[in-house]
Amino acid sequence: MEVLEAVRARRSVRSYRPDPVPDEALSRLLEAARLAPSAMNYQPWRFIVVKSQEKKDRIARSGAFGRFLSQAPVAIVACGDRGSKYYVHDTCIALEHIVLAATSEGLGSCWIVSYDEETVKRLLKIPDRFSVVAIVSLGYPADSGDLVGSFLHFFRPKKRLLEIAFAEEFGRPLTGDAPG
Ligand SMILES: Cc1cc2nc3c(=O)[nH]c(=O)nc-3n(C[C@H](O)[C@H](O)[C@H](O)COP(=O)(O)O)c2cc1C
Repeated sequence: MEVLEAVRARRSVRSYRPDPVPDEALSRLLEAARLAPSAMNYQPWRFIVVKSQEKKDRIARSGAFGRFLSQAPVAIVACGDRGSKYYVHDTCIALEHIVLAATSEGLGSCWIVSYDEETVKRLLKIPDRFSVVAIVSLGYPADSGDLVGSFLHFFRPKKRLLEIAFAEEFGRPLTGDAPG
């Protein structure tokens, strides 16, 4: 799948089939993260692949908007080393590589930031100098409708290009006749 195809095909998936994610596919996803750019090439990211039902349940229960994680076969917990000033930028880029690679493998995913960080750190034995930047759920999408996703897409659809992209200065339209 071409990159733009994956970008267009991706959407947050919050309902999963129980089928396991093959380890070879997981390796390709992690390789996509490994190759991501990072400030000063610091590579502050660490990824914990969580399949244990008990651990997924405990993470899911620690936040209000990630309960569907219990149903996903895999959770990828992305941690960033706070020793780099840009650990959040870098870790998010690498995690989005995982998400796009997952799309190209036919896997569904969803970013999750609704969790209790201390609970996750304790549960997964994450060292102090690392923060949990985000979690991504992974699995083959179920056919059933995703109510949260439909709600968000209906009430908060994607902004149009002219609202988000400007020419030369903030607010100046990219196309058409710009004043002055
Ligand atoms: C940083 C970040 C955090 C998110 N956290 C959650 C979350 O905790 N729970 C959830 O259901 N969705 C979460 N999402 C998914 C967004 O709701 C979703 O990306 C947005 O509604 C747009 O829908 P789409 O991903 O299908 O394009 C998060 C997305 C991002 C990028």
